[in-house]
Amino acid sequence: MQINPKTVKNRFEKSFETYNENAIIQRITAQKLVENLCKIKSDYNSVLELGCGTGILTEEFIKKASYKKYFANDLSGKSKVYLEKILPEFTFLEGNAVKVRQKADLIISNAVFQWFKNLEKISDACKINLNKDGILAFSTFSPENFKEVKNLTGISLEYKSVEALEEIFSKNFEILYREEFLHTMKFNSPLELLAHFKYTGVNSLKRQTFGEVKNFCEEYKKRYPDISLTYAPIILICKKK
Ligand SMILES: C[S@@+](CC[C@H](N)C(=O)[O-])C[C@H]1O[C@@H](n2cnc3c(N)ncnc32)[C@H](O)[C@@H]1O
Repeated sequence: MQINPKTVKNRFEKSFETYNENAIIQRITAQKLVENLCKIKSDYNSVLELGCGTGILTEEFIKKASYKKYFANDLSGKSKVYLEKILPEFTFLEGNAVKVRQKADLIISNAVFQWFKNLEKISDACKINLNKDGILAFSTFSPENFKEVKNLTGISLEYKSVEALEEIFSKNFEILYREEFLHTMKFNSPLELLAHFKYTGVNSLKRQTFGEVKNFCEEYKKRYPDISLTYAPIILICKKK
Protein backbone atom coordinates (compact mmCIF):
# COMPACT_ATOMS: atom_id res chain seq x y z
CA MET A 1 0.00 0.00 0.00
CA GLN A 2 1.47 3.33 -1.13
CA ILE A 3 1.57 6.10 1.45
CA ASN A 4 1.15 9.58 0.07
CA PRO A 5 2.20 12.14 2.74
CA LYS A 6 -0.19 14.75 1.26
CA THR A 7 -3.16 12.39 1.68
CA VAL A 8 -2.01 11.42 5.18
CA LYS A 9 -1.70 15.10 6.11
CA ASN A 10 -5.16 15.99 4.73
CA ARG A 11 -6.97 13.11 6.40
CA PHE A 12 -5.31 13.74 9.78
CA GLU A 13 -6.01 17.47 9.58
CA LYS A 14 -9.68 16.73 8.98
CA SER A 15 -9.74 14.45 12.03
CA PHE A 16 -7.99 16.82 14.47
CA GLU A 17 -11.25 18.24 15.94
CA THR A 18 -12.56 14.75 16.79
CA TYR A 19 -9.21 13.02 17.39
CA ASN A 20 -8.68 13.50 21.14
CA GLU A 21 -12.11 12.17 22.08
CA ASN A 22 -11.78 9.09 19.89
CA ALA A 23 -8.08 8.19 20.05
CA ILE A 24 -8.52 5.85 23.01
CA ILE A 25 -5.70 3.44 22.17
CA GLN A 26 -3.32 6.23 21.21
CA ARG A 27 -3.82 7.74 24.69
CA ILE A 28 -3.06 4.37 26.30
CA THR A 29 0.14 3.97 24.24
CA ALA A 30 1.19 7.55 25.06
CA GLN A 31 0.73 6.83 28.79
CA LYS A 32 2.65 3.54 28.63
CA LEU A 33 5.40 5.12 26.55
CA VAL A 34 5.95 7.97 29.01
CA GLU A 35 5.62 5.76 32.08
CA ASN A 36 8.34 3.39 30.86
CA LEU A 37 10.52 6.17 29.48
CA CYS A 38 10.50 7.89 32.88
CA LYS A 39 11.65 4.67 34.57
CA ILE A 40 14.78 5.00 32.42
CA LYS A 41 15.15 8.80 32.59
CA SER A 42 12.67 11.62 33.18
CA ASP A 43 14.76 14.76 32.90
CA TYR A 44 15.84 15.97 29.45
CA ASN A 45 17.51 19.03 28.07
CA SER A 46 16.04 19.02 24.57
CA VAL A 47 13.11 16.99 23.26
CA LEU A 48 12.06 16.43 19.66
CA GLU A 49 8.57 15.03 19.13
CA LEU A 50 7.80 13.56 15.70
CA GLY A 51 4.20 13.63 14.39
CA CYS A 52 2.81 15.46 17.42
CA GLY A 53 -0.72 15.80 15.96
CA THR A 54 -3.06 17.28 18.58
CA GLY A 55 -0.56 16.71 21.38
CA ILE A 56 -1.81 13.59 23.16
CA LEU A 57 1.77 12.41 23.79
CA THR A 58 2.93 15.97 24.52
CA GLU A 59 0.35 16.24 27.31
CA GLU A 60 1.39 12.92 28.82
CA PHE A 61 5.08 13.78 28.56
CA ILE A 62 4.87 17.12 30.37
CA LYS A 63 2.80 15.56 33.18
CA LYS A 64 5.59 13.17 34.13
CA ALA A 65 8.88 14.33 32.62
CA SER A 66 10.82 17.58 32.58
CA TYR A 67 12.59 19.35 29.73
CA LYS A 68 14.23 22.65 28.86
CA LYS A 69 13.56 22.92 25.11
CA TYR A 70 10.74 21.31 23.13
CA PHE A 71 10.75 20.87 19.35
CA ALA A 72 7.49 19.59 17.89
CA ASN A 73 7.14 18.26 14.35
CA ASP A 74 4.13 17.29 12.24
CA LEU A 75 3.29 17.04 8.55
CA SER A 76 0.40 19.36 9.30
CA GLY A 77 0.97 23.01 10.23
CA LYS A 78 -2.41 22.92 12.03
CA SER A 79 -0.79 20.90 14.82
CA LYS A 80 0.95 24.04 16.02
CA VAL A 81 -2.35 25.53 17.24
CA TYR A 82 -3.05 22.46 19.38
CA LEU A 83 0.46 22.44 20.86
CA GLU A 84 0.14 26.14 21.75
CA LYS A 85 -2.65 25.14 24.15
CA ILE A 86 -0.34 22.64 25.88
CA LEU A 87 3.18 24.08 25.89
CA PRO A 88 4.12 27.61 27.04
CA GLU A 89 7.06 27.65 24.66
CA PHE A 90 8.24 25.41 21.83
CA THR A 91 9.62 25.42 18.30
CA PHE A 92 7.34 23.98 15.63
CA LEU A 93 8.98 22.12 12.75
CA GLU A 94 6.43 21.57 9.99
CA GLY A 95 7.00 18.83 7.41
CA ASN A 96 8.05 15.25 6.92
CA ALA A 97 9.74 13.90 10.08
CA VAL A 98 12.31 12.06 7.97
CA LYS A 99 13.66 15.43 6.76
CA VAL A 100 13.78 17.16 10.16
CA ARG A 101 17.30 18.12 11.23
CA GLN A 102 17.25 19.13 14.87
CA LYS A 103 19.62 18.01 17.60
CA ALA A 104 17.96 16.64 20.74
CA ASP A 105 18.59 14.44 23.79
CA LEU A 106 15.28 12.67 23.42
CA ILE A 107 13.12 11.85 20.38
CA ILE A 108 9.56 10.75 21.16
CA SER A 109 6.73 9.74 18.89
CA ASN A 110 3.32 8.13 19.46
CA ALA A 111 1.38 6.22 16.79
CA VAL A 112 3.33 7.69 13.86
CA PHE A 113 6.10 5.28 12.79
CA GLN A 114 3.65 3.01 10.95
CA TRP A 115 3.21 5.86 8.45
CA PHE A 116 6.87 5.87 7.42
CA LYS A 117 7.59 4.14 4.12
CA ASN A 118 11.18 3.44 5.06
CA LEU A 119 12.01 2.76 8.69
CA GLU A 120 15.77 2.50 8.01
CA LYS A 121 15.64 6.15 6.90
CA ILE A 122 13.87 7.37 10.04
CA SER A 123 16.22 5.28 12.19
CA ASP A 124 19.22 6.95 10.49
CA ALA A 125 17.60 10.40 10.81
CA CYS A 126 16.98 9.84 14.53
CA LYS A 127 20.56 8.74 15.05
CA ILE A 128 21.83 11.91 13.33
CA ASN A 129 19.48 14.12 15.36
CA LEU A 130 20.21 12.58 18.74
CA ASN A 131 23.06 13.81 20.92
CA LYS A 132 25.44 11.32 22.56
CA ASP A 133 23.56 8.69 24.64
CA GLY A 134 20.30 10.15 23.29
CA ILE A 135 17.06 8.19 23.64
CA LEU A 136 14.47 7.33 21.02
CA ALA A 137 11.08 6.26 22.41
CA PHE A 138 8.16 5.48 20.13
CA SER A 139 4.97 3.51 19.78
CA THR A 140 3.69 1.93 16.60
CA PHE A 141 1.59 -1.09 15.60
CA SER A 142 2.29 -4.73 14.67
CA PRO A 143 0.87 -6.73 11.72
CA GLU A 144 -2.07 -7.85 13.91
CA ASN A 145 -3.35 -4.27 13.89
CA PHE A 146 -6.82 -3.97 12.29
CA LYS A 147 -6.49 -7.58 11.15
CA GLU A 148 -10.28 -7.72 10.65
CA VAL A 149 -10.13 -4.96 8.03
CA LYS A 150 -7.14 -6.55 6.30
CA ASN A 151 -8.91 -9.94 6.20
CA LEU A 152 -11.97 -8.37 4.59
CA THR A 153 -10.43 -5.85 2.20
CA GLY A 154 -6.76 -6.79 1.82
CA ILE A 155 -5.98 -3.15 2.70
CA SER A 156 -3.42 -2.48 5.40
CA LEU A 157 -0.32 -0.51 6.17
CA GLU A 158 2.85 -2.58 6.04
CA TYR A 159 3.15 -3.00 9.78
CA LYS A 160 6.38 -4.54 11.10
CA SER A 161 6.64 -7.15 13.85
CA VAL A 162 8.49 -6.23 17.04
CA GLU A 163 11.33 -8.56 15.93
CA ALA A 164 11.61 -6.81 12.56
CA LEU A 165 11.59 -3.40 14.27
CA GLU A 166 14.31 -4.49 16.67
CA GLU A 167 16.42 -5.69 13.76
CA ILE A 168 16.07 -2.36 11.94
CA PHE A 169 16.64 -0.13 14.97
CA SER A 170 19.42 -2.20 16.56
CA LYS A 171 21.74 -1.05 13.77
CA ASN A 172 21.81 2.43 15.36
CA PHE A 173 20.37 1.80 18.83
CA GLU A 174 20.58 -0.41 21.88
CA ILE A 175 17.07 -1.62 22.70
CA LEU A 176 16.22 -0.75 26.33
CA TYR A 177 12.51 -1.59 26.49
CA ARG A 178 9.96 -3.37 24.33
CA GLU A 179 6.31 -4.10 24.85
CA GLU A 180 3.50 -5.33 22.66
CA PHE A 181 -0.13 -5.90 23.54
CA LEU A 182 -3.56 -6.29 22.00
CA HIS A 183 -6.59 -4.13 22.67
CA THR A 184 -9.97 -5.04 21.21
CA MET A 185 -12.58 -2.35 20.66
CA LYS A 186 -16.24 -3.17 20.10
CA PHE A 187 -18.70 -1.12 18.07
CA ASN A 188 -22.49 -1.11 17.69
CA SER A 189 -22.26 -1.30 13.89
CA PRO A 190 -19.69 -1.36 11.08
CA LEU A 191 -20.70 2.22 10.26
CA GLU A 192 -19.77 3.25 13.80
CA LEU A 193 -16.42 1.51 13.28
CA LEU A 194 -15.89 3.42 10.03
CA ALA A 195 -16.75 6.66 11.83
CA HIS A 196 -14.12 5.75 14.46
CA PHE A 197 -11.55 5.50 11.65
CA LYS A 198 -12.63 8.85 10.26
CA TYR A 199 -12.56 10.60 13.64
CA THR A 200 -9.02 9.35 14.33
CA GLY A 201 -7.67 9.95 10.80
CA VAL A 202 -6.87 6.28 10.40
CA ASN A 203 -8.76 6.09 7.13
CA SER A 204 -5.80 7.71 5.42
CA LEU A 205 -5.38 4.92 2.89
CA LYS A 206 -8.15 4.92 0.33
CA ARG A 207 -11.49 6.62 -0.42
CA GLN A 208 -14.39 4.18 -0.75
CA THR A 209 -17.46 4.32 -2.96
CA PHE A 210 -20.97 3.97 -1.50
CA GLY A 211 -21.17 0.39 -2.86
CA GLU A 212 -17.82 -0.54 -1.31
CA VAL A 213 -18.92 0.81 2.08
CA LYS A 214 -22.23 -1.11 1.92
CA ASN A 215 -20.42 -4.32 0.99
CA PHE A 216 -17.80 -3.77 3.71
CA CYS A 217 -20.51 -3.32 6.36
CA GLU A 218 -22.41 -6.46 5.31
CA GLU A 219 -19.26 -8.60 5.23
CA TYR A 220 -18.00 -7.22 8.55
CA LYS A 221 -21.29 -8.13 10.29
CA LYS A 222 -21.16 -11.66 8.85
CA ARG A 223 -17.53 -12.35 9.74
CA TYR A 224 -17.29 -10.39 13.01
CA PRO A 225 -20.85 -10.28 14.45
CA ASP A 226 -19.65 -8.55 17.65
CA ILE A 227 -18.09 -5.80 15.44
CA SER A 228 -14.73 -6.10 17.13
CA LEU A 229 -11.58 -4.34 15.98
CA THR A 230 -8.08 -5.31 17.10
CA TYR A 231 -5.46 -2.73 17.91
CA ALA A 232 -1.93 -4.19 18.27
CA PRO A 233 0.46 -1.58 19.68
CA ILE A 234 4.21 -1.90 20.10
CA ILE A 235 6.36 0.29 22.33
CA LEU A 236 10.09 0.55 21.78
CA ILE A 237 12.59 2.59 23.80
CA CYS A 238 16.20 2.62 22.69
CA LYS A 239 19.49 4.40 23.25
CA LYS A 240 21.83 5.74 20.56
CA LYS A 241 24.85 3.45 20.07
C1 LIG B 1 -2.20 8.88 14.76
S1 LIG B 1 -1.68 10.54 14.73
C2 LIG B 1 -0.76 10.59 16.24
C3 LIG B 1 -0.70 11.98 16.82
C4 LIG B 1 0.02 12.11 18.17
N1 LIG B 1 1.40 11.67 18.08
C5 LIG B 1 -0.68 11.38 19.29
O1 LIG B 1 0.01 10.98 20.22
O2 LIG B 1 -1.91 11.25 19.27
C6 LIG B 1 -0.39 10.56 13.50
C7 LIG B 1 0.21 11.94 13.27
O3 LIG B 1 1.42 11.75 12.55
C8 LIG B 1 1.53 12.74 11.55
N2 LIG B 1 2.40 12.18 10.50
C9 LIG B 1 2.16 11.13 9.69
N3 LIG B 1 3.21 10.92 8.87
C10 LIG B 1 4.13 11.87 9.19
C11 LIG B 1 5.44 12.18 8.69
N4 LIG B 1 5.97 11.50 7.69
N5 LIG B 1 6.10 13.23 9.24
C12 LIG B 1 5.55 13.96 10.25
N6 LIG B 1 4.32 13.71 10.76
C13 LIG B 1 3.63 12.67 10.24
C14 LIG B 1 0.09 13.00 11.11
O4 LIG B 1 -0.06 14.27 10.51
C15 LIG B 1 -0.65 12.89 12.45
O5 LIG B 1 -0.74 14.13 13.10
